[in-house]
Amino acid sequence: MHRAGTMLLFALSILFSQAWSIDYPSPIADLPSLWTNNNATIPYNATYASGSMIRAILVRQNPGGYGPSFACGFICAAPCDRFLFAVFSISVGYTSAAAINASTPPRIVWAANRHHLVKENASVQITRDGDLVLRDFDGSLVWSTNTSGSPVVGMNLAQTGNLILYDVVGKTVWESFENPTDTLLMGQSLRQGKRLTSASANWTQGQFYLTVLDHGLYAFVNGDPPESYYQKRFNVTDATVESKMNISSGGVKNGTAYISFLQGSLSAFGSLNNTAIKLFDISLPWPSSAQLISLEDDGHLRVYGWDGISWEPLADVLDVYPDGCAYPTVCGEYGICSKGQCSCPTGNSGDAPFRELDDRHPDMGCSLVIPLSCDLIQHQQLLPLTDVTYFSFGDSWATHEESCKEACLKACTCKAVFFRHQNDSYGSCYLMPKIFSLMSYKPETIGYNLSAYIKVQRLPPPPSSKDWNVTAYHVGVPVLVAFIALLILIIKRTISKRMQEDDPFKGIPGMPTRFTHKQLKQATNNFSKKLGQGGFGPVYEGKLGNAKIAVKCLRDIGNGKEEFMAEVITIGTTHHINLVRLIGYCSDKLHRLLVYEYMSNGSLDKWIFKKNQSDSLSWASRYKIILDIAKGLAYLHEECRQKIVHLDIKPGNILLDDKFNAKISDFGLAKLIDRDQSHVMTKVRGTRGYLAPEWLTSTITEKADIYSFGVVLLETVSRRKILDSNQPEGGINLINLLQEKIKVGQVLDIVENQNEDILSHGAEMIEVIKLAVWCLQREFSKRPAMSQVVKILEGAMDTESTAGSEINSRDEIFDASSPLSPVPVSAR
Ligand SMILES: *[C@@H]1O[C@H](CO)[C@@H](O)[C@H](O)[C@H]1NC(C)=O
Ligand SMILES: *[C@@H]1O[C@H](CO)[C@@H](O)[C@H](O)[C@H]1NC(C)=O
Ligand SMILES: *[C@@H]1O[C@H](CO)[C@@H](O)[C@H](O)[C@H]1NC(C)=O
Ligand SMILES: *[C@@H]1O[C@H](CO)[C@@H](O)[C@H](O)[C@H]1NC(C)=O
Ligand SMILES: *[C@@H]1O[C@H](CO)[C@@H](O)[C@H](O)[C@H]1NC(C)=O
Ligand SMILES: *[C@@H]1O[C@H](CO)[C@@H](O)[C@H](O)[C@H]1NC(C)=O
Ligand SMILES: *[C@@H]1O[C@H](CO)[C@@H](O)[C@H](O)[C@H]1NC(C)=O
Ligand SMILES: *[C@@H]1O[C@H](CO)[C@@H](O)[C@H](O)[C@H]1NC(C)=O
Ligand SMILES: *[C@@H]1O[C@H](CO)[C@@H](O)[C@H](O)[C@H]1NC(C)=O
Ligand SMILES: *[C@@H]1O[C@H](CO)[C@@H](O)[C@H](O)[C@H]1NC(C)=O
Ligand SMILES: *[C@@H]1O[C@H](CO)[C@@H](O)[C@H](O)[C@H]1NC(C)=O
Ligand SMILES: *[C@@H]1O[C@H](CO)[C@@H](O)[C@H](O)[C@H]1NC(C)=O
Repeated sequence: MHRAGTMLLFALSILFSQAWSIDYPSPIADLPSLWTNNNATIPYNATYASGSMIRAILVRQNPGGYGPSFACGFICAAPCDRFLFAVFSISVGYTSAAAINASTPPRIVWAANRHHLVKENASVQITRDGDLVLRDFDGSLVWSTNTSGSPVVGMNLAQTGNLILYDVVGKTVWESFENPTDTLLMGQSLRQGKRLTSASANWTQGQFYLTVLDHGLYAFVNGDPPESYYQKRFNVTDATVESKMNISSGGVKNGTAYISFLQGSLSAFGSLNNTAIKLFDISLPWPSSAQLISLEDDGHLRVYGWDGISWEPLADVLDVYPDGCAYPTVCGEYGICSKGQCSCPTGNSGDAPFRELDDRHPDMGCSLVIPLSCDLIQHQQLLPLTDVTYFSFGDSWATHEESCKEACLKACTCKAVFFRHQNDSYGSCYLMPKIFSLMSYKPETIGYNLSAYIKVQRLPPPPSSKDWNVTAYHVGVPVLVAFIALLILIIKRTISKRMQEDDPFKGIPGMPTRFTHKQLKQATNNFSKKLGQGGFGPVYEGKLGNAKIAVKCLRDIGNGKEEFMAEVITIGTTHHINLVRLIGYCSDKLHRLLVYEYMSNGSLDKWIFKKNQSDSLSWASRYKIILDIAKGLAYLHEECRQKIVHLDIKPGNILLDDKFNAKISDFGLAKLIDRDQSHVMTKVRGTRGYLAPEWLTSTITEKADIYSFGVVLLETVSRRKILDSNQPEGGINLINLLQEKIKVGQVLDIVENQNEDILSHGAEMIEVIKLAVWCLQREFSKRPAMSQVVKILEGAMDTESTAGSEINSRDEIFDASSPLSPVPVSAR
């Protein structure tokens, strides 16, 4: 399914590799000059295969093939609505009118406005009084060199990539080399007081920076306060006096240290006793071509070499020990890095207070299953971690281990605590306001003992027998005390006995929490905000501390307490990123409630059947959602301990979180089926339109879910309901309509409100429809297994290579003229 995309890229690269051959703009501009960011005033424009576009005002063509050519101007990434004013390298041939190579993306080496990207019709101007000024489309000042009043006569883009404002005698008034952004070019320096700041993927400022301080070279991750993950200290006794150093260029001042990117090294210089000294050298690979150093989005400082066409990474400049595990984001937040591998912190007793944000990318980090909430600070605990340390500790104070832990538990801002032992119980205490990646270590490799604790949230327990004691305490009538005490004792015994019977999970970590009805009534503000009405009862919004929850009140649940508990155990122990998580439950005489994680974007039907299609989901998001559902179902059917057949797969039961990750809800509420045998159902479950034909013959297996999934696929592609009475006759049932369209070879006609999606993704849509047809086979044994579906959607398998899925095999599609309405099946 990705072949289409690859073909398209290939075609584009052919198209663009034969792009323009015109004369380039001059590398020098005179004053005054004004350029407006549009094609009319900046004629030298180009769109790259990667989707980015440049509008160059100055181009310095590389004369001899040694290095890249450089250009200065506006640059944007797809969809090109926000621009940087920047200096970037471009790949061109050596003749004066050589074509640019549009398959080699431009590389930004300096940028003026990462703090504020500008729009179409922004302007850049060298003013009469010598200032270089960038204004947004509305005329607002975005950036300036602040050189007004200086005798600037022009601007020059030098062969080194340095953008220079110069005066009448050719003296530099301002230069981009003195104001680095995320990159150092050969010959460029980073002076004390300046920062090299990483750029994030969206071209705004990133969270890492490199800076020269009095004592050395440091890399920080931004935060409050910033935390240092790399430091190379100056050692003056090691310094060599640089008599040969060319002091006139730049001029080393007393106390001003800097690093310089030279051929073969990154060197630190400073001055001592009015003498220039070299403080250290970090040696770098030294190929005979141009190079640059860049602080990147992951905190690494990398050196790149120009291979004649593009920049290739050569080496990591910083030694960050051990195994790169001290990079702050190497394993995401809360992730533990061990020899470059990432994992989440675990509790001592198999407890799982953390989960991976993305189980396929452990380096994305971990999140707390129950988020920390300052309102519930009294229910927070410190989870001890063994042999875990951190890249940076910050301030400490000397105290006892217990007071150190207590201080963290009392402070809402404290997320973790480290304690470095001096002796048994006394040592240095470090409270951590934020946790980036953690790292594991071998105790024998550091010369001290370190204890690490990480803060986790527990939920308030249901009111326990203790509360009765409190009541008793306040009863002050001595005569009654004995009597009441006796009464309380009896009640307490009864309650605690019942609690034990009722809460089979008590003390079992990782199990859903038990709530009382009163607690949930409070959490949902007396069941005031209804989120929806599911097949099993209404769902209400609620809040536990700061965390939002969804509370489902089960109606007419015929099962007895034991069956309910069995279902809660199954659901509560079934964890997958594409399944809505059960947090807790309530079960008492009258009420059966389930507490789920809150899904802020509601159910899928609200998004795909939207009448206003402009703000509905793009094809890429819908494809991702389909894949998410498939993964969730594959887990239920094939991977989890006890096979779970859902029996009511439909868009209304697919929920979307804030990032539009899809999760299946209501699983496990229908009857459970053992792994190897199908049960005979006595009652038709599910929803009209999504029911597999075998409901009529009453042998129900997980293949019934696959049929329903096929319907969801069709609905998601076509953005219409399977049964839609607003459609013209013959089109009411989407499956009938599809069969008609297959006959005439116009499959994509089933897509409602066709837009540009269909032009660029038509091939993918057809593949998904083919997959749907396979899932909708009347004969359930011919439908694919969910794991096959996942493989196909991930592009690892072909629909064609598998039998029974030809899109023209219409006879095998479920015949829509069969009765679709649920007919109760006689119990056997
Ligand atoms: C400007 O030119 C580029 C490249 O030719 C093109 O992609 C873009 O759509 C044009 N922009 C406008 C506003 O015409
Ligand atoms: C820049 O854009 C204009 C308008 O889109 C176009 O006519 C012109 O050929 C482009 N210039 C280059 C060098 O592609
Ligand atoms: C253009 O760049 C691509 C990849 O960066 C390279 O494969 C191709 O050979 C280059 N074309 C020319 C004409 O240099
Ligand atoms: C940019 O300015 C030109 C000329 O003033 C105008 O025609 C065009 O609509 C403007 N473009 C945008 C996106 O505002
Ligand atoms: C120019 O001055 C403004 C206001 O003092 C300041 O915010 C900005 O950072 C300065 N620009 C440069 C390039 O130093
Ligand atoms: C850019 O990305 C960063 C994180 O990578 C995010 O915090 C920021 O909001 C994004 N900015 C925009 C304008 O999208
Ligand atoms: C500085 O270097 C000298 C000689 O190499 C060494 O003896 C000394 O310990 C170093 N000082 C620091 C603070 O690292
Ligand atoms: C400094 O470097 C420049 C350019 O490389 C050279 O012309 C000049 O003679 C050098 N000065 C000294 C003192 O070495
Ligand atoms: C360097 O400057 C400081 C004040 O900034 C001064 O006290 C010191 O004497 C100077 N050192 C030398 C060697 O000039
Ligand atoms: C700097 O001056 C001090 C005292 O004048 C002297 O002890 C020291 O050795 C000098 N350092 C260097 C590197 O020359
Ligand atoms: C631990 O060290 C502290 C401070 O050095 C000292 O006051 C205390 O007596 C020591 N405790 C033990 C048990 O050695
Ligand atoms: C660390 O703890 C172990 C066991 O508690 C002890 O044997 C060892 O001496 C301690 N090391 C230090 C440096 O305190």
